[in-house]
Formats: sequence, C-alpha cells, structure tokens
Amino acid sequence: MKTTISLIKADVGSCPGHAVVHPDLIKTAEKALKETDLLIDYVVTNCGDDLELIMTHHHGVDSDKIHQLAWDTFEKAANRAKELRLYGAGQDLLKDAFSGNIRGMGPGIAEIEFTERKAEPVVTFLMDKTEPGAFNLPIFRMFADPFSTAGLIIDPSFHQGFRFEVWDIKEHKKVMMSCPEEMYDMLALIGAKSRYVIKRVYPKQGGKLPADEPVACISTEKLSLIAGEYVGKDDPVAIVRAQSGLPALGEVLEPFAFPHLVSGWMRGSHNGPIMPVAQRSARCTRFDGPPRVVALGFQCSGGTLIGPVDLFDDPAFDRTRRQAQKIADYMRRHGPFEPHRLPQEDMEYTTLPKVLERFKNRFESME
Ligand code: 13P
Ligand code: 13P
Ligand code: MG
Ligand code: MG
Repeated sequence: MKTTISLIKADVGSCPGHAVVHPDLIKTAEKALKETDLLIDYVVTNCGDDLELIMTHHHGVDSDKIHQLAWDTFEKAANRAKELRLYGAGQDLLKDAFSGNIRGMGPGIAEIEFTERKAEPVVTFLMDKTEPGAFNLPIFRMFADPFSTAGLIIDPSFHQGFRFEVWDIKEHKKVMMSCPEEMYDMLALIGAKSRYVIKRVYPKQGGKLPADEPVACISTEKLSLIAGEYVGKDDPVAIVRAQSGLPALGEVLEPFAFPHLVSGWMRGSHNGPIMPVAQRSARCTRFDGPPRVVALGFQCSGGTLIGPVDLFDDPAFDRTRRQAQKIADYMRRHGPFEPHRLPQEDMEYTTLPKVLERFKNRFESME
C-alpha cells in the first residue's frame, strides 16, 4: 500500500509580531491530530511564525478528509491565538468555510503519494519570510546540477536525470521539462522565481523508481493572488525523498550551503539571504529576518515517521550562516533602494501602492 505524506502549514498567529508560533498553538494542533484516526503518524512543529503539520496516511493526495482535518486544526489553533490576542491571529485562513479542498484557502500544501522503498529517507524543508520560488534554486541544484549532486555523474541509478513540473503561478499553467536535455529552457523559466516555480520532480521512465511517483513536492500557494492584497508572505514548504536512486541526503542538503537571495524579508517586500538554521533558531528577529530554512529528516517506515533529525543543527552550516549575516548587512545598507526592496511590479501586492496613490495627482505632464 502506498504512503502519503501531507505537509500543510499556515500562519495562524504568532508571538510577538511575526516571530514565533506560541507553544499553546503547537499543543492545540497536536491534540487535534492525536484525536483523529485518519493518520498513521504526525509531527507538529513551527518554522518561525508558521505552524507546520507533517502528516502520514493512506488517503492519497488532495484527500478532502485530510484537508478538512488540517483546516479544522488550523481553526482551533487560530481560536487559541485569538484568545491570547497573538499577532495576526488567523492570518492565513483566508476563507470562512471549508469546501472540500484546502487549496486556494490560504494554507500552503506539499503532498506526495509513493511506494515506500526498503528504507525511505525523507526531508521536509520549512521556510519563513520568503516565497515558493525560493525553492527553485536548491531543488534545481539537488536534481539537475552535477556540480552540486555528484550522483548525477557517478550513480547509474539516476545518471539519466529527472523530470520537473514547472508552474506558471500567474497564468495557472504548467509545463513538464526534462533535465539535462532541456536544462537551459527550464532555467530560462525558473530563474524568474516570482512567476515560475518548480512544483514537483519525477524520476525518468525505466529507472529504479516508478516514473509517476513524485520524489519532491513544493508548496506553491500565493496568498496575495488569493486575497488580492498583501496578507503576509507565502512561506513555503517542501518534501524531498533521498538516497537509493535519488540524491543522497548530503546532496539534498548541499544547495543550502549557499545562502541565496530570496524575496519576502520585512513586510514581504525585501530581498535577503536565506539562512539554514536549527529549528530552535527559526525566529526571524533582525528586520523580521533574515529569511530562514529548517530541514527535518525522517526515515518513513510504513508511514511511521522515525525522527525528526534537525539537519541544519550542524556546525558544517556555521559558515553559511555567517555568510548570510554578512549578506544581510550588505543588503540592509541599501535601505529603501532596490534590489533590497523588491522591484516595482512585485510591490503591487504590498502596501506601497497606497502610498503612491497619495501624491499621484501632483505629477505634471512634461510634454
Ligand atoms: P545510496 O546509499 O543511496 O546508494 O547513496 C550512497 C551515499 O550515501 C553516498 O553519500
Ligand atoms: P509572515 O509572512 O511570516 O507572517 O511575515 C510577515 C511580515 O510582514 C514580516 O515582516
Ligand atoms: Mg506572520
Ligand atoms: Mg511566516
């Protein structure tokens, strides 16, 4: 029987400001997931102000039962956040009533259904203060860049490469791209990370793993496209399977040794370096950041989650963190100037247009 991992997250309130999920919210969510018989196993955690539900079950992806469970859990946690008068209580619950699928309602979702191998290593990545396109670069490096993943060259079980499902999140269209053959075409798209995002990665036909079962999945929900205005950032999550026909665990983590620039820092309006941190250090303080990524590793055994192992809680990533701090200093010194501040078109869904509106009538024609 196949196993499904559903990683569903929402910011339903934090303490103080947009810093950290309050322990009561974690307890509330744990209680809600403990009471159901729908799940095989679960882990409730947080990345900064985002409440994360990591769940395993046999109901497949897009299951209305699992989505309802997640929605109800977030509502319970949001109610507790309201009682405590936490900041942004209920922030990501954009719709009033649940209608069968949690997609398009605010929470971020990454789900994969797959046949477990003899041993099934899985990494869940949790990000705060950034957007889904922040995963483009590391996912590309894991599954397509031979300078990062040695196995693409030396492991015959995936030397043939992978297929990528790329979404155009503005036009609601998708395209499959095969690497290495179409690598340059794919990079032409995914380099524009605010619009084109990698949604899933698949093995190729004829390999060790079934070609129709994803080996990675990324949440791609954009809150502003749902709500039509800025309501917090779309802090994304991802599930990545590793080893035996796939990149090794260390190849899955290696791309994060480079603190690449992502958007979403302070008010969702600034670019900054993403810093890989231990889960306890996912608390965005300096200028509400810099953006964070946490990696929790598991062995998935018949749906039971053995772990988590807090993978960036390792001195091997200290230098990356220091480099991220240096980049943060450098970016901050630009103050309100681009490219620290996002380009004008990405500021459309922030509060900036309301400021520009105030003096738009003072412009005189120069003709
Ligand atoms: P597999 O065990 O997945 O073949 O990978 C070997 C490995 O871990 C090298 O780092
Ligand atoms: P979140 O998207 O994490 O809620 O942060 C919002 C924000 O504006 C931080 O400055
Ligand atoms: Mg928040
Ligand atoms: Mg957040």
